[in-house]
Amino acid sequence: MTDDTLIAIKPEIAATARVTAERRAAMVQAAASDPDGFWRQEASRIAWMKTPTKIKNTDFTGDVSIKWFEDGELNASVSCLDRHLEAGRGDQVAILWEGDDPNADSKTTYAELHAQVCRVANALRALGVKKGDRVCIYLPMIVEAAVAMLACARIGAVHSIVFGGFSPDSLASRIQDSECSVLLTADEGRRGGRKVPLKANADEALKTCPSIRHVLVVRNTGTQVAMQEGRDLWWHEAAEAQPATCEPERMNAEDPLFILYTSGSTGKPKGVLHTTGGYMVWASFTHELVFDYRPGEIYWCTADVGWVTGHTYIVYGPLANGATTLMFEGVPNYPDSGRMWQVVDKHQVNIFYTAPTAIRALMREGEGPVKKHSRKSLRVLGSVGEPINPEAWLWYYRVVGDERCPIVDTWWQTETGGILISPLPGAVAQKPGSATLPLPGVFPALVDGDGKVLEGATEGNLVITDSWPGQMRSIYGDHARFAQTYFSTFPGKYFTGDGARRDADGYWWITGRVDDVINVAGHRMGTAEVESALVAHPKVAEAAVVGMPHDIKGQGIYAYVTLVAGEEPTEALRKELVAWVRKEIGPIATPDAIQWAPGLPKTRSGKIMRRILRKIAANETDSLGDTSTLADPAVVTELVENRVS
Ligand code: WT7
Repeated sequence: MTDDTLIAIKPEIAATARVTAERRAAMVQAAASDPDGFWRQEASRIAWMKTPTKIKNTDFTGDVSIKWFEDGELNASVSCLDRHLEAGRGDQVAILWEGDDPNADSKTTYAELHAQVCRVANALRALGVKKGDRVCIYLPMIVEAAVAMLACARIGAVHSIVFGGFSPDSLASRIQDSECSVLLTADEGRRGGRKVPLKANADEALKTCPSIRHVLVVRNTGTQVAMQEGRDLWWHEAAEAQPATCEPERMNAEDPLFILYTSGSTGKPKGVLHTTGGYMVWASFTHELVFDYRPGEIYWCTADVGWVTGHTYIVYGPLANGATTLMFEGVPNYPDSGRMWQVVDKHQVNIFYTAPTAIRALMREGEGPVKKHSRKSLRVLGSVGEPINPEAWLWYYRVVGDERCPIVDTWWQTETGGILISPLPGAVAQKPGSATLPLPGVFPALVDGDGKVLEGATEGNLVITDSWPGQMRSIYGDHARFAQTYFSTFPGKYFTGDGARRDADGYWWITGRVDDVINVAGHRMGTAEVESALVAHPKVAEAAVVGMPHDIKGQGIYAYVTLVAGEEPTEALRKELVAWVRKEIGPIATPDAIQWAPGLPKTRSGKIMRRILRKIAANETDSLGDTSTLADPAVVTELVENRVS
């Protein structure tokens, strides 16, 4: 694959696309020359109780202050629900739910969703939840997850979703950090034919969460669970007792909508804070542009609501745009590896958005399971979460899309709220493996290690030089850490933590993280988190974790472990440590390789040289680079010889 492999925009797509190349160019120009005018206009895509008169007020220097639409007032749930009822769309399906079990599905119309949201919102109010209070959501991929989010938004409570695959410890630390007063969960979840013990995990977590006053429990699988008198209530009983209408809270545009924890290169996960107005405008704007969404279409994003992709592109974006959003409880290979395409045909899906790791896993099964299904309804295919290798891109394009569907490789982050760099189906020619061009109003740049802006075709650190409405506003409870993490490396610029390349056509190619964050099957993981889980084990003295190339997952987790003196490195202990990390963090943090390391490569000042550890893990041992600054270069020889393959 070269930089010149250009897949042109098909004339039939350009002919009907909402945004053509010409229109895109005009938008890019307008957003750059008159941001206030451009975003004032775009703000009208959502429903305001008070139309904003002030548009952009942002400063990436000093304490860092980001405000958009700051005198506007709105409620996110009204944009997603009420106004569609007013427009006569109450009977349209809002959420098309497909169960883990291929025989389980359901349809929830906008009118029904509105009623369910109002009942749960009232139930939360009855439990004493007020505007600004934090509510934790630990639910599987069932309709109630979307209801929970919108119910919080309705009463101005700030939701914090914790992915159902996280351990009790991970759940507890997130609840503690934002002092949530209520937890919304279920008896159990289902995934790939297995059950996930959510309530039992929650009970374990809540032993250390004094801020939680009440737990609402969805009866999902019907299994027996312990209910703590005075604290735990059944969701259906609490909701049924409430009226089906609920006055939405008037929120300022800059009032928080949600917190979502994500991993960084140091310390514990950060509570990324998004506010109401700018986020909603960005969710709606990007969902419509990037997917070239047209009214009446069936749209399916395969993410989990526990990640930002689920927030913006299963719930807020599609519902703001009045779409029918498909919510899938299962996994791509259950009951078999044709499941995705079976669901596409069953529900006549038009737009399909998934992760490279899923594409690579399905690619390994060959074309058979794909070709068994028609997929004729598909019109646009999307990719998100990690760089997509050209081979997987081309397979997705040729085999899944029959060379008919444009592919939108969308680059963004939890912090960015929504997509920043992506092709638009009718406006940007594609290159397999490239996220192509920034959206209108997005200003990326490449800088070198000293922060010098690089011009032309080159490679460097990816920064964004000015604000966009969907940008995170702070780290919950720690604004100084926000400024420090994102704006101090390259002062005055937002640093993404990614590296990127820009080719001679000005196309962007994301090369991956340049910090100590790894991306395992599209899940972001801080190496420091895995290290602290490992050293919490009584037999571990020291640990260093790096990413290693992995055929399916993109990156795998490679851990170097030094045992405390006298402990023997056995196979049993290796298994025990793997199980330990799964228990401490969750299955997504499962180490792929553990290498016993009598010593780690450290500088004379005691800093671990991760560059060397990454090279060894990647089996690039002939290019270790300069090791002369190491306190003990012999350590490296030992590690190379005992590399785990
Ligand atoms: C990191 C953000 C974006 C929502 C899901 C992940 C990587 C994401 C792409 C892409 C190359 C990508 C980056 C980014 N990433 N999309 N299309 N091409 N890399 O959100 O957990 O906040 O992770 O995912 O490294 O920094 P996240």
